[in-house]
Amino acid sequence: MAKAKEPETEEEPGVPTNKRLYNFLLVLLGSSLLFAFCYELLFPYGSSDSSPSKKEACDIFSGKWIQDSSDPPYTNSSCSFISNPQNCLTNGRPDTGYLHWRWKPYDCEVPPMDTTKFLNKMRSKSLAFIGDSIFRNQMESLLCLLSKVEEAILVYHDEKFQSKTWYLPSHNITLGLIWAPFLIKSTEARSKNNIQLYLDVLDYAWTSQYHKYDYVMLSGGQWFLKETIFWENNTVIGCHDCMGKKLTELGMDYSYHKALRLVFQFMSTSEHKPLVVLKTWTPSHFEHGKWNTGGICNRTEPFKEGEYTADPVDATMRNVELETFQEGSNNGLRVKLLDTYHLSLLRPDGHPGPYRRFHPDISKKLQNDCLHWCLPGPIDTWNEMLMEILMNEAELRSAF
Ligand SMILES: *[C@@H]1O[C@H](CO)[C@@H](O)[C@H](O)[C@H]1NC(C)=O
Ligand SMILES: *[C@@H]1O[C@H](CO)[C@@H](O)[C@H](O)[C@H]1NC(C)=O
Ligand SMILES: *[C@@H]1O[C@H](CO)[C@@H](O)[C@H](O)[C@H]1NC(C)=O
Ligand SMILES: *[C@@H]1O[C@H](CO)[C@@H](O)[C@H](O)[C@H]1NC(C)=O
Repeated sequence: MAKAKEPETEEEPGVPTNKRLYNFLLVLLGSSLLFAFCYELLFPYGSSDSSPSKKEACDIFSGKWIQDSSDPPYTNSSCSFISNPQNCLTNGRPDTGYLHWRWKPYDCEVPPMDTTKFLNKMRSKSLAFIGDSIFRNQMESLLCLLSKVEEAILVYHDEKFQSKTWYLPSHNITLGLIWAPFLIKSTEARSKNNIQLYLDVLDYAWTSQYHKYDYVMLSGGQWFLKETIFWENNTVIGCHDCMGKKLTELGMDYSYHKALRLVFQFMSTSEHKPLVVLKTWTPSHFEHGKWNTGGICNRTEPFKEGEYTADPVDATMRNVELETFQEGSNNGLRVKLLDTYHLSLLRPDGHPGPYRRFHPDISKKLQNDCLHWCLPGPIDTWNEMLMEILMNEAELRSAF
């Protein structure tokens, strides 16, 4: 999709500019009806919205970061859900410029987040995040955003605090975080043994919970880049990055594709039909080295368009997602895309870096975190977009 210029005119939020068709409709239908219509156009993804004119309307994921002096929606003091390694304010990160950027789609405005409205519309609903620690990161952001209106209560956690469930009693809302980093069955890496990955078996951790949720967020990630042995039909068929073993290197995109396809297959054949939202790949921003070779992320401003070089691995994995998403949509699956990849790629300044620890001595060479995100930080935007996507679903649009 070609990138349009940011419209300079003051327009009603959600109404695309320079489209004669819409001006015509404006006259024809009246502004209130048009507004409702365009609201739908804002979110062109999913099986039901397949007409090409809709797709052209506004891609909220295509845009740029613009400076915004307003304060972030919460702080380290107002929100108690932030894990220490992402609590950049408390950990003493000195610069705060990264907190003052707002995502601006080229062709429209995303209406400002309305937490109260969101919670009211979500009354008696449940939402699960199925994935890895990036989703823990995003869930904590969501809990912080919601805590302005209602503080969630932790009602369940597993032994390692990887899977958790929260409840918001005033709104009867359940939020689940389900640890399933591969989405498919895997073993843990033990000493010199690689991770065994079962490409034709789903991870029971989430399939056993799936039926409980009205909305399901889904994502794979960095775990697919690890050394993994691939199993299919009880046979080793190859591997990824298993140097020294006499196995066929099939690649991380092979296992990721198999995993996502199997997940979508399960979802299409399951009786339970929640709305599924696939979140795209999370780019990391290690520079001057890799994560394990002294890489750092010390930028303090977003990239401008064209200023960065994307990691080809990221592009490969995102393509797997887009391809599988398309297959899923074509097969009638109720699936939407939360395409946070590009807007995240532009934010090398949003990571904890050395401030994953409390007041680190930065004169020393320290392990940096250039993958997870500071809270508050750019990842809050993912949730603002998620809330928009959910609220524009037919059943919530009409809810009060
Ligand atoms: C929040 O961060 C500030 C520094 O930005 C620090 O002074 C304050 O103690 C922190 N608050 C909490 C509750 O950790
Ligand atoms: C709370 O939500 C559940 C569905 O998630 C529903 O079955 C139940 O009736 C709701 N309870 C109240 C008190 O609204
Ligand atoms: C799985 O393996 C069994 C026996 O090992 C074989 O009969 C069957 O055809 C295999 N299935 C697939 C899908 O490869
Ligand atoms: C980031 O670190 C690199 C390598 O140590 C250094 O050359 C660069 O000046 C630093 N940038 C900032 C903004 O501190």
